[in-house]
Amino acid sequence: MYYVNPNKIAHNLADAISFPRDLHFSHKTLLQMMKMNELNIGGLSIPTPIIQGGMGVGISLSGLASAVANEGGVGVISAAGLGMLYKAESNDYLANSISGLQQEIRKARQKTTGILGVNIMVALTNYDDLVRTSIEEGIDIIISGAGLPLDLPKYLTPGSKTRLVPIVSSARAATLICNKWLANYNYLPDAVVVEGPKAGGHLGFKPDQIFDENYALEKLIPEVVKAVNDIALLNGKNIPVIAAGGIYSGADIVKIMRLGASGVQMGTRFVTTDECDASIEFKQAYIDAKKEDVRIIKSPVGMPGRAIKSPFLDEVEAGKRQPKTCPVNCIRTCDISTAPYCIIASLTSALRGNFRRGYAFAGSNVWRTNKIIPVKELMDTLKQEYNAYAEKAELVSC
Ligand SMILES: Cc1cc2nc3c(=O)[nH]c(=O)nc-3n(C[C@H](O)[C@H](O)[C@H](O)COP(=O)(O)O)c2cc1C
Repeated sequence: MYYVNPNKIAHNLADAISFPRDLHFSHKTLLQMMKMNELNIGGLSIPTPIIQGGMGVGISLSGLASAVANEGGVGVISAAGLGMLYKAESNDYLANSISGLQQEIRKARQKTTGILGVNIMVALTNYDDLVRTSIEEGIDIIISGAGLPLDLPKYLTPGSKTRLVPIVSSARAATLICNKWLANYNYLPDAVVVEGPKAGGHLGFKPDQIFDENYALEKLIPEVVKAVNDIALLNGKNIPVIAAGGIYSGADIVKIMRLGASGVQMGTRFVTTDECDASIEFKQAYIDAKKEDVRIIKSPVGMPGRAIKSPFLDEVEAGKRQPKTCPVNCIRTCDISTAPYCIIASLTSALRGNFRRGYAFAGSNVWRTNKIIPVKELMDTLKQEYNAYAEKAELVSC
């Protein structure tokens, strides 16, 4: 028999509250409890509490998303820049991005019966249309950040089953969104993603906060869990908190969940998989990346970002790049007169492996990636590592 510390086993505060203290469990029960708990997002059961982060432009499309969903996680299609990838359809970038999104959702749905999401950045010019299209297509979950999705519930239509998940980088933002949604739409998020400063892509932090321990994911999780649970408990809803940014191994997942997260969102790890929709050159850039190649850059979106150094970024830093025209007006917050380059063009070039014209966004742990494997192998490895670490840690503490 083992003494169980409920705060270590419980996966969120709500569980902890209903979890009787000083209980004793058999070894078998204890081991079962150490297995990854399923994640519940607004009544949707997700067997493996791993969300594959949406990755634009074109890095996570139907191929990667369906593979992750087939392994019991949430597969997420990125809505960013789809008009560039579905260019052949017409000369209208915004219309092509809607048609591209429809096609990607339908393709993914044909390949899986698992849980599928769409990641839609608030900063996208046609945010409204992308959200409406996703709901019309019956997507399971919309995950939305890069700005505060303060009005996301307004797009829900009667009978729609789409769950809404904002991405935040502070407890303050989580509280603001919950209160606004409740006051204006009588709706609370179905889950909240808290993304810390080690993530890849755009970061919701000021440059001086990125390496400041006060903004570390480990510090943010309990703050966001408390903020969200205070509101959730008052309103009789469970709002799981999902943590993102720099999570790499199954052991990391155990540590993160012990801080109160109910699941994780991972991006970088899914790039070096067979099913990732990027070119082999993009994946190779990950495998070749060394620790010192990872950079914080200034993005035309108006936020800092984390990326792998490239000849293109060297030119940007040297002030040798200046966009002459704005081809598609894809981002609300991008100003052609001050933007150092066109982000949609550079990310599309990178997707295809051209690093003279672009760069790869990546998380802080990209330098640890060393091979391209099937999504199934990655998910199985994470589960095995999780179980091994949880078992070891729990037995040591007994
Ligand atoms: C190549 C790349 C592209 C990304 N694009 C987006 C995006 O379009 N929208 C978004 O909200 N997050 C984006 N992200 C962030 C991921 O969804 C995820 O939250 C983050 O990468 C987690 O950190 P990790 O990569 O350390 O696991 C991107 C990340 C990467 C690596």
